[in-house]
Amino acid sequence: MSSVLVTGGAGFIGCNFVRFLVKEGHEATVLDKLTYAGSMENLKDVKGRINFIKGDIAEKRDAEKAIKGCEIVVNFAAETHVDRSIQDPEPFIRSNVFGMHALLDAARRHDVKKFIHISTDEVYGSAAKGFFIETDTLSPRNPYSATKAAAEQLGIAYANTYGIKLMITRSSNNYGPYQNAEKFIPKMITNALQNKQMPIYGAGKNIRDWIFVEDNCTGILAVIKKGRTGEIYNIGGGNEKRNIDAARTILKILGKPESLLTFVADRPGHDFRYALDTAKARKLGWKPAHTFEAGMKKTIEWYKNNTWFWQ
Ligand SMILES: NC(=O)c1ccc[n+]([C@@H]2O[C@H](COP(=O)([O-])OP(=O)(O)OC[C@H]3O[C@@H](n4cnc5c(N)ncnc54)[C@H](O)[C@@H]3O)[C@@H](O)[C@H]2O)c1
Repeated sequence: MSSVLVTGGAGFIGCNFVRFLVKEGHEATVLDKLTYAGSMENLKDVKGRINFIKGDIAEKRDAEKAIKGCEIVVNFAAETHVDRSIQDPEPFIRSNVFGMHALLDAARRHDVKKFIHISTDEVYGSAAKGFFIETDTLSPRNPYSATKAAAEQLGIAYANTYGIKLMITRSSNNYGPYQNAEKFIPKMITNALQNKQMPIYGAGKNIRDWIFVEDNCTGILAVIKKGRTGEIYNIGGGNEKRNIDAARTILKILGKPESLLTFVADRPGHDFRYALDTAKARKLGWKPAHTFEAGMKKTIEWYKNNTWFWQ
């Protein structure tokens, strides 16, 4: 791969992905607005080996400046916290939809060979049973997932109308190093480490498929290298867990008591279950390398050794 633009590369998944690019010797440019969710600290060990631009994907000038000279675009940049989107959807519409539009428009004017948009399993909505495949109908059910679905549709329209060479990945819930402590897994880990109560929505029965962030990164790389233009790929960890059981795994690894678990009022419109069929991505030769327990041990170790990140 030649020069890669990573938007949102100072955030959780983005900074992990940038490390993979640097390790493989690719030229990486990061465009990031450095919102509360992104930080240069997340890139401190690779800072000298990347080109960093502080900017907003929704600002045409920033999108244009960053895309110029890049052959591959990987769009991670987004507002991502569902609870925040329920409180105020507007920043989500701006960054996730207007941002996608500005990037696509800039990609039209430059010779972008591949445009990879990072989406989410949440666009399918809740799965009563079975597993979603890439051709299933989208049914987003909260403001965050609605903006992610809108961005996908805009991308598909631009590919169809203007020939943008688009691929989309839809991943399940990520966990791992550098995830903001407002999200479920890091909140559970950091509270448990401090012997603080661990808040669980409702009765903790909602189910998510968890993927260790490095496995998502290898999945995205497989799509870039071997995926077909115009295709969508589900990337899931194959680790379905009820939230309560994910929290119990953390307590077990840390040797902490279950009395730390505390149940709080459920999120409005909380999707019950997300589940992905990942056969299509696996046909590219990719599969996740971590069980939930193995990924969680690495994650907990990282939060223990990097208190600067969350304290
Ligand atoms: N974390 C997950 O479990 C998960 C699952 C599926 C899909 N995704 C998708 O993966 C992508 C990355 O998620 P994450 O968890 O790393 O998010 P994050 O919130 O940790 O990081 C987002 C990054 O994007 C930057 N950003 C936000 N708005 C921007 C803008 N307008 N212009 C430039 N930069 C901007 C932030 O500063 C931050 O660095 C998102 O598109 C998200 O929808 C995440």
